[in-house]
This record gives sequence, C-alpha cells and structure tokens, in this order.
Amino acid sequence: MTIKKIAILTGGGDCPGLNAVIRAVTRKAIHEHDWEVVGILDGYEGAVLGHARNLTHDDVANILGLGGTILGTSNKADPFAFQVNGSEKRDLSRQLVEHLKRWNVDALIAVGGDGTLTCARQLTELFPRIVGVPKTIDNDLSATDQTFGFDTACNIVTVAIDRIHTTAQAHHRVMVVEVMGRYAGWIALEGGMAGGGDVILLPEFPFSWDRVCATIRDRSRRGRRATIVVVAEGAHAEGEDLTVRATVKDSPDPVRLGGIGERVANVIERETGHESRVTVLGHLQRGGAPSFYDRVLATRYGAMAVELVASGQFGMMTALRGQEIVAASLSEATGSLKHVTREHPLVATAQAVGTSFGI
Ligand code: F6P
Repeated sequence: MTIKKIAILTGGGDCPGLNAVIRAVTRKAIHEHDWEVVGILDGYEGAVLGHARNLTHDDVANILGLGGTILGTSNKADPFAFQVNGSEKRDLSRQLVEHLKRWNVDALIAVGGDGTLTCARQLTELFPRIVGVPKTIDNDLSATDQTFGFDTACNIVTVAIDRIHTTAQAHHRVMVVEVMGRYAGWIALEGGMAGGGDVILLPEFPFSWDRVCATIRDRSRRGRRATIVVVAEGAHAEGEDLTVRATVKDSPDPVRLGGIGERVANVIERETGHESRVTVLGHLQRGGAPSFYDRVLATRYGAMAVELVASGQFGMMTALRGQEIVAASLSEATGSLKHVTREHPLVATAQAVGTSFGI
C-alpha cells in the first residue's frame, strides 16, 4: 500500500534519546518520503483517548539534545486492559485502532521498552502496520545489542561514582551506590566497571553476605579502607527476595524496586564495623541530555524505522547488531528479557581486575 501518513508514540518510562528518535522519524518521513507525521500524546494513553498533534520539520527543531519526550509518555496505559472509572479495566484496543483510522494513519512507529513493544506486537493483530524502536536505560531488550538511553545512564552512573570516590577515600568509608535496571544488571555492571566499583551486585547473581563482607575485610587488611559497592536495584542475597520500594497498582508491571542499597550498607556496617553510606541514583539516571552515543543511535533507529515502514517490514523493530542497524522481529524482541550471564566476557574482565560480585 502507499504510505501517506505515519504516527509515532513514545511509551513507558522516559529515556534520554526519545526526542532524537522523534526528530529523525519526522524529518526523514517528511523530506525523503513526503509523508505527514502525527505525534500521539502520552503513549498508549493518548492513542486510546485520541490525543495527538501533527509534527512538522520545525516542531522537532532543537530537541536533539533534550531529555524526556516532547510527546509525553505513560507507563500505565495498556490498550488491552485500559483503566476506566477508577479500578475497572477494559480492552480498548479497537478504540485505539479507530483513532488511527480517523487520523488517516497508514503506519505506526512505537518507541518503547518491553511493555510498549509487547503491546505493539499484540496490536499488529488489529493493525498490522506497526514498527518498533527499542528504548530503555535498562538495556534488557532481547534482539538488540543495545537500546538507546543505556549509554547516557551508564555515563551518569560513572560520573556519580567518580564523585563518591572522593568521600570514600577521605573518610575511609564503604560507599554503596544503588542503580536502576529493574531485573537486569547491565547498568550496574557497565556503570560499575567504568566507575571502578570494588564490589558489584547484580540481580542475575544472588550474592552471599559473607563474601561481600569478606571482600571489605580483606581490602581493609591490605590497607584499602575505602570501598565502592555498586548495587543494582534488583540485586538480592542468596535465598532472599527482591527489595520492593512501592507497588503502583494501576501499572501493568506494578513492582517498583528499591531499597537494597540501604540494606547492603547496614549489613556491611554491622558485620564489618566499617562506616557505610548509601546513595540512590534513582531517576537522575534517566534525566537530562542524551550522550553523544545515544543521540547517534537514536537518530539511526529513527531513520531505520522510517525505512522499515517504507519497505513494508511491519511487525519488526530496529536493532543494533555489532555496528549495523538491522530489523528484528517484535516477537523475538519481546519473548524474554536479556540478562547478564556468568559467561558474559565483561564479567570475566571485571573479575580479572579485582571486582567482586559477592558470589
Ligand atoms: O525501566 C526503566 C526504569 O527506570 C527502571 O530501571 C526502574 O526500575 C523503573 O523504570 C522505575 O520506574 P518508575 O519511573 O515508574 O518509578
């Protein structure tokens, strides 16, 4: 079919680089294909409620380095279980498709993480012309080597740990840094390595309290009285559960992790006698300007998404494989999350330079 108009939405948590994708999609669609572009507001919420605006060349000027998303987003709206009247949930996916038809939209580009892309895959049953773009600071999406947002988040973690080293050294303290990543340890692993974390605790490797404390004592015996412990929010000790900060009842994934950093600092201080402090980096990791790498990756993803629409490759997602941007199926991308494994080369490298995973 001939494409004349496309829509774009950004779903899930905000992430550095979303605006770079919106800019690339809009400009390439207009200049190379002469298509019109509709920006759907607040992710699937706006798609279900019919909230959208046209995007022109000028509408996306000066947003390349801007954090967040000019379209807004929602990490609660699920078109298949959309919240109406307080707690009642209804399948409003057909209403979403009616809006796309009303706007004369020929194809939809959905930019998001696992939740957004899983919805996109399900929606292809009702509206097949959908293409995905993988976003998340967590870097936990299968089928792509990297999501945009991850590089920026790791840079923020690195700079934060660099600063935390100062107090660790001056006061001979154990400084615990809790980072995001949900059930995947990529931010802790790579941000922790770049920041020179002495102990890195990941969700994928349940840790032993004894080994963590033994590492601190051992360092102290060798005259290293300062230790940096990087803890992923999803990390947990052997036989223990995840530490949950909050439950967001109306969210498709209601669990919000957080608090394990505090626990790690308390146990270390109690068991080793070393004064410990915790810093939770939280949403700082998602905020502000995207890094150079994420601006380029997001722009490449946006341009490729338009190519996929133009060449009729629907039900697909843009993906990075090595240095190449390729197409991967949405089913492959959303089937299971990408986790750190014990065999991953970065794990061996970190261990080779003396980092302990508490295992
Ligand atoms: O998926 C991105 C992420 O920032 C996770 O790392 C974190 O667990 C979660 O979102 C936090 O969600 P919210 O912004 O709803 O608290």
